[in-house]
Amino acid sequence: MTSLVIFGATGDLAGRYLLPSLARLTAARSWPPAFRVRGVGREPLDNEQFRKHAGERLDRHAADVPIDARHEVLNQIDYVVADVTDPAAVAASIRDLPTPIAFYLALPPSLFATTVTALAQAGIPPKSRIVLEKPFGSNENSAQELNRLLAEVATEDSIFRVDHFLAKQTVQNVLGLRFANRIFEPLWNAQHVHSVDIVWDEPLTLEGRASYYDRAGALRDMLQNHLLQLLCLVAMEPPRTLTSRDLHDRKVDVLRAVRALTPEEVSRHTTRARYTAGRIGDRVVPDYTAEPGVDPTRETETFAAMTCWIDNWRWTGVPFKLRSGKALGARRSHIAVRFRDVPHLVFGQHEEPAPNVLRFMIDPDRIELSMNLNGAGDPFDLEPACLDTDLAPQTLPAYSRLLLDILEGDATLSIRGDEAEEAWRIMDPVLAAWAAGAAPLREYPAGSLANDF
Ligand code: BG6
Repeated sequence: MTSLVIFGATGDLAGRYLLPSLARLTAARSWPPAFRVRGVGREPLDNEQFRKHAGERLDRHAADVPIDARHEVLNQIDYVVADVTDPAAVAASIRDLPTPIAFYLALPPSLFATTVTALAQAGIPPKSRIVLEKPFGSNENSAQELNRLLAEVATEDSIFRVDHFLAKQTVQNVLGLRFANRIFEPLWNAQHVHSVDIVWDEPLTLEGRASYYDRAGALRDMLQNHLLQLLCLVAMEPPRTLTSRDLHDRKVDVLRAVRALTPEEVSRHTTRARYTAGRIGDRVVPDYTAEPGVDPTRETETFAAMTCWIDNWRWTGVPFKLRSGKALGARRSHIAVRFRDVPHLVFGQHEEPAPNVLRFMIDPDRIELSMNLNGAGDPFDLEPACLDTDLAPQTLPAYSRLLLDILEGDATLSIRGDEAEEAWRIMDPVLAAWAAGAAPLREYPAGSLANDF
């Protein structure tokens, strides 16, 4: 690749993740200095104005990056005004760029299909790559259509469906822990595992993203992609190698085994809720519905929880509980594998030992295993103990790693087309049952803890 084009360069994704990632790569000297980066968007800005805007985003989201590296990125990037759904405008916006080009669609998903079509009509330079963000489509049908469209214009190995969670260090540690250690695999099944919690609670609120989020909601924004990907890594069979094809094959196997819930199961095993006004620390948060750009009649959920069952030999009967919400009182981001109780109580007259829980904490990264040991004093008293390891902070943040993978053409951490479709097969029945009134929308004051409602 010799150029990166960011469609939607003035949007939230570019400002929050892509530009800061470029700055971090530049600071780490991992980004080729002669590389061209072009922002394309509809906002009528000249280069100067765009750089000012981008500089402000870097000040906010990459304040830890040395100022020289931030300036270097700003000097490397220019901006062209274009409607990315118009083939002639797209062609004009890239005419002077060296090829091949990585096209990053940092756009609302509703624009993916028209943008890919415009790009194809404008002419995609040979060996170029197309990068799409999640959610990939808005249901199984639209994901299939998008895959068909992409297959007409590009080869699968040049399409990157990005899920930045896969580039998080602790997430990859699930693979390390499972497949580089002998001791866990014999316990990694329904006989020994009681349940798995996959949690992503955020104090973040809407942050000005209504145009995307109000149409997506928590289920589409987090569960359908990020949390199902985490489920795949926990539940998949050992892959033959960690190459792209082996990893994707094993992940698809798991997704195919996740049961589609019936409407009655949706009522019992899912929760959807929306935040109302409240306080998070000293921050006063308005009602979700009072945020600019929100349409209250859409009943968009800002919290979603769902229990999944994997109908295969290894996992039958084990609940995998997925949950994510915004405007919550505490950040909690972890995968917790809870093991079954010991089969027989030898400490009968004393207390029952707490179950062992293996926790992968994400951002900051840490792995913990809770255990029971004999305490001091009475030799038969049990005391909780925890084996834990703090992991060094990730050297390159997830988006920086993904950008490098895109440049290097390594699709191991991207989502294959069939994975995206299977993930929708699991979520579509939930969305349909919700639309028909199952699991009515609840409310929680901003700042609540997820366990409290
Ligand atoms: C994004 C979601 O993909 O992931 C956001 O759209 C969410 O709503 C974010 O806040 C969480 O990831 P991270 O890495 O920023 O904690």
